[in-house]
Amino acid sequence: MPLVHMGDMLRHAYENRYAIAAFDVVSLDFINGIIAAAEKKQAPIIISLAESHFEYFDFELLMSAVVQASRRASVPVAIHLDHGESLESAVTGINLGCTGVMVDASSQPLEDNIQDTKAIVDMAHACGIPVEGELGYVPGVEGEDAERHPGEVVYTTAADAKTYVDATGVDFLAVSIGTVHGRMKGQPKLDIERLKEINQALQIPLVIHGGTGLSDEQFRQLIDNGVTKINYYTALADAAGRSIHNNVETLGEAGYTSMVKGIAEAIQNEAESCIELWGSADKSKELLAKCEPWKPVAHVIVFNTEGLDTEGVEEMMEEGRRVLSKIPGVLDVFTGHAVQKDADFQHSWVVRFTDRSVIDSYKHHPDHQRFADERFRPYAGGRITIDYEDSSLGK
Ligand code: 13P
Repeated sequence: MPLVHMGDMLRHAYENRYAIAAFDVVSLDFINGIIAAAEKKQAPIIISLAESHFEYFDFELLMSAVVQASRRASVPVAIHLDHGESLESAVTGINLGCTGVMVDASSQPLEDNIQDTKAIVDMAHACGIPVEGELGYVPGVEGEDAERHPGEVVYTTAADAKTYVDATGVDFLAVSIGTVHGRMKGQPKLDIERLKEINQALQIPLVIHGGTGLSDEQFRQLIDNGVTKINYYTALADAAGRSIHNNVETLGEAGYTSMVKGIAEAIQNEAESCIELWGSADKSKELLAKCEPWKPVAHVIVFNTEGLDTEGVEEMMEEGRRVLSKIPGVLDVFTGHAVQKDADFQHSWVVRFTDRSVIDSYKHHPDHQRFADERFRPYAGGRITIDYEDSSLGK
């Protein structure tokens, strides 16, 4: 079953009053545990990678594993950049395969938040990628004791939320109504009336950050009032930590593989409880019927060159790989030479886009136009260009 559009996913959840789990991952054990839970419960799932965690893993390497695991999963999966800190981070996330991105400019004044978010929305929408914005401030740090990061909750107001969503065009909104990231002492007090007002004013999928530590009843109230994506990490990390701790206690001195045994299962157990509680269990089939599968596009050019020697062709291709791969929505750039020396076209580019909307945004991107006009077209004589949509339906 395929990678799917996150917009379709969250709209289905919104219309059918359940929430999809967005679990942050920091290692292969997290990926395996979360997907196993989603498959066992037949639930759609969002795998998130938070920029605040990039010190713990190599984003590019872990993304390869996430993309591969998502394609093999038997349930619908979306891949999300959590708490993206800049336009550059959002472009990197999209080009590595994220199917949704979050912009977190929530610590800025409203006007600046709108301006930064709008720039990311314009870029991401031109790549066919939905954006989650955040308004208000959810304090704390995922995976750490909330007391270590004391900060005041800045509550989202319905009026500001309407202004922000209208001005930016974000697809989903993370709201601040009393939750805190990380491990809390006691339970947060949620302002459900405020959430109700925001939901009535916006009528778009809402997101809650800082899912760890809420009660069953609080989750139910959130979902009843428009929350369709719940971000959750600390409790998974604590389950993994307990598993290691138990291994140390039972085994004493032992090697790495013995110490990490059972982590994925511990994460899976915690994830299964969330999925069950948030109502996404058994929604996989129904949702898939309503979702657009993820269909990247291969922009294929076969060509011959005139007026360039072999070294010149290599230099042009090297520059193309470097420049074109940074354009928003470009997944990868392949350059090649024909194996058959009598082939009609001796060279090729295969530039893979996240989505068919990139055909247009790529064509008009200034870096593409400069490269094409100055470095490619003057030397590429005969050529054929065709865009092919992926027929593997996200697998
Ligand atoms: P917790 O770590 O409190 O579950 O919050 C996770 C989160 O909000 C990630 O964005």
